[in-house]
Amino acid sequence: MTVTIVGAQLGDEGKGGVVDLYGDRVDVVARYQGGDNAGHTVVHGDQEYKLSLVPSGAVRGKVGVLGNGCVVNPATLFDEIDSLRERGLDPDVRVAERAHVILPYHRVLDGIEEDAKSDSELDAGTTGRGIGPTYEDKVGRRGIRIGDLLDPDVLRERLEYVVPQKRALAEDVFGVKTGEEFDIASLYEQYRRFGERLAEEGMTVNAGDFLGDRIDADENVMFEGAQGTSIDIDHGIFPYVTSSNPTAGAAATGTGVGPTTIGTGEVIGIVKAYLSRVGTGPLPTELSDDETEEELADQIREKGGEFGTVTGRPRRIGWLDVPMLRHAARVNGFTGLAINHIDVLAGLGSVSVGHAYELDGETLETMPTTTERWADCEPVLREFDGWSEVDWSEVAAEGYAAIPENARTYLEYVSDELDTPIYAVGVGPGREQTVVLETPFE
Ligand code: IMP
Repeated sequence: MTVTIVGAQLGDEGKGGVVDLYGDRVDVVARYQGGDNAGHTVVHGDQEYKLSLVPSGAVRGKVGVLGNGCVVNPATLFDEIDSLRERGLDPDVRVAERAHVILPYHRVLDGIEEDAKSDSELDAGTTGRGIGPTYEDKVGRRGIRIGDLLDPDVLRERLEYVVPQKRALAEDVFGVKTGEEFDIASLYEQYRRFGERLAEEGMTVNAGDFLGDRIDADENVMFEGAQGTSIDIDHGIFPYVTSSNPTAGAAATGTGVGPTTIGTGEVIGIVKAYLSRVGTGPLPTELSDDETEEELADQIREKGGEFGTVTGRPRRIGWLDVPMLRHAARVNGFTGLAINHIDVLAGLGSVSVGHAYELDGETLETMPTTTERWADCEPVLREFDGWSEVDWSEVAAEGYAAIPENARTYLEYVSDELDTPIYAVGVGPGREQTVVLETPFE
């Protein structure tokens, strides 16, 4: 069977931990979109692993697949694999031959365009990893795919077509002087060698065939979405979004496994008990209105370790945005929820949520379609009594009933609003600090 893990908010909901939690019964973990913009922190025993491209399951000795919907920076991929090997792990990572490759000029162009947009506040606050420019080239049918790295003639031909265009874009449109990142001969040498290493290590696959065969053989496959629903290129807060579809439908298109297979499995929405955001753009429930709110945001940020895994940037903090979650539940068709970080909110006198929005005298229960309208939304807050700090490891060991009553009220409110059962509650960063109510692979 399959389980698809999807971020229900703005990314950084703690998906890696959930993948890891259910990882014991998983044979293969596949990513279906994004690239090294994702940051997963996986805590295993006394070790912490920060990964951006290698699927988190690799820490648990599972096969990791980067599907055709991913954009792959081979330099990052090999760096991560090498550093995991240095720490005694032997990750088995396969890469779809249909996945697109991030080249150095994509990163440069990412930075150039962000700079150009910043005057009009249209910059998305990207991770600078070249994600958007690479997806642009994919859709523009001028991208270079992993399969092309395996064939030096094709690689050269593709580079000869695309690089002069990229150089002209940087120099003539944006007036930026270009360097080695735009040099065909040096790119060819570097990427041909990446192709050789991929081939030598037997890493490339037809993702649909590879995963389909595993599913046919009754193995358990987990699809690990990166980022979150509200930064989905179609369903998110455009243009402050990433350039792929983190939502569940992309688990099919981004791997080559049919939607009927994905749809008969589970789709688990990962929810953080409050909101955090690393990028720019509006955030109606943000805690930033006055000094008291800012202090509260600081407290939550420190306690929750809310600093970007990839960039180290402090994350913006807000109350849980329930219309955002209703939108996510509809778009993804969640069958279960994992709600993380309720321990971070412990000790507050009260905890609020944005239950609905007020917009032009109307009450909205879900997100408006444009980000400009979303920015005009006033959250209708609902207040819950806070819960005290407890020994969360003990709570995890004892189970759901040991969660403080007020926190359970909060959790059950979310579950009721989304009409979706809770499968897991994260009460701390460690794998064992999770209250498990349902194990989907059983
Ligand atoms: P990009 O994906 O680097 O193009 O960045 C586009 C937007 O997505 C920016 O607002 C980023 O901060 C955000 N973003 C990208 N990856 C992640 C992630 O893994 N977690 C949270 N936000 C992300």
